[in-house]
Amino acid sequence: MGKTILITGASSGLGEEMARQFAALGHDLALCARRTDRLERLKKELETAHPGCRVECRALDVNDHDAVFEVFRAFADDFGGLDRVVVNAGLGKGAPLGTGRFDANRDTAVTNFVGALAQTEAAMEIFRRQERGHLVMISSVSAMRGMPKTVTTYAATKAGVAHLAEGVRAEVLGTQITVSVIYPGYIRSEMNERVKHVPFMVSTEKGVSAMVDAIEKEKASARVPAWPWVPVGFALRHLPLPLARRLMG
Ligand SMILES: NC(=O)c1ccc[n+]([C@@H]2O[C@H](COP(=O)([O-])OP(=O)(O)OC[C@H]3O[C@@H](n4cnc5c(N)ncnc54)[C@H](OP(=O)(O)O)[C@@H]3O)[C@@H](O)[C@H]2O)c1
Repeated sequence: MGKTILITGASSGLGEEMARQFAALGHDLALCARRTDRLERLKKELETAHPGCRVECRALDVNDHDAVFEVFRAFADDFGGLDRVVVNAGLGKGAPLGTGRFDANRDTAVTNFVGALAQTEAAMEIFRRQERGHLVMISSVSAMRGMPKTVTTYAATKAGVAHLAEGVRAEVLGTQITVSVIYPGYIRSEMNERVKHVPFMVSTEKGVSAMVDAIEKEKASARVPAWPWVPVGFALRHLPLPLARRLMG
């Protein structure tokens, strides 16, 4: 049965490709981001490729917290409810702490954590009313451990997102509300397009296919793609810090 899926940050990278792959599976889509020209282009592409597919788009800056609630409610009204919300919008800016770039680290912290909190609140408001729904949080393998240098703040936000999700899951266990946390490894997107040599980087299509598979199965937690991120994630989480540090780049 086709579901109605809201995706934030659907204008590029993983969000855009999730929209493509969910549409191909027969789901309807509520897409938002700041770059609405890109959303409109994607809507045309998806409605042409999948004539039965309904796609609605809205502008959203997840740092405008009132707007997050308004846009989520408006999408729920459009479709008569939402089956799944994918909290995906995020930023990858950052600098080592204490090097004069509080601005970059603050932007990442506010967008990735406070923005995700607003999205989770807005989604849960709808799911509580419906008494059902699937909350999907896009974390990162970097959440497995405190990370050095440019990734310190980013990794902390992604650990925060994963904890938010687990807290919600602990509360809704045994109900019709389910929660998934997806921990992607390196997947090609705008966020890393200038980074040249990254070990285990996969194409957007391949990486997102692993994400969509885990999401469709409503897995509680998934490191994707499974190879190498299941074992690397385990090692990052459990090795003593001096050894884990060698895996962190
Ligand atoms: N790619 C990877 O290897 C990787 C690995 C682990 C986790 N992730 C996570 O996956 C998610 C998607 O990232 P990506 O790799 O696809 O990067 P991306 O191509 O840069 O996409 C980021 C998306 O987030 C949206 N966004 C950013 N700031 C926003 C804001 N203030 N309000 C609303 N939307 C905002 C952007 O849309 P607009 O600019 O149009 O608003 C864009 O659609 C992020 O949460 C990221 O942390 C990615």
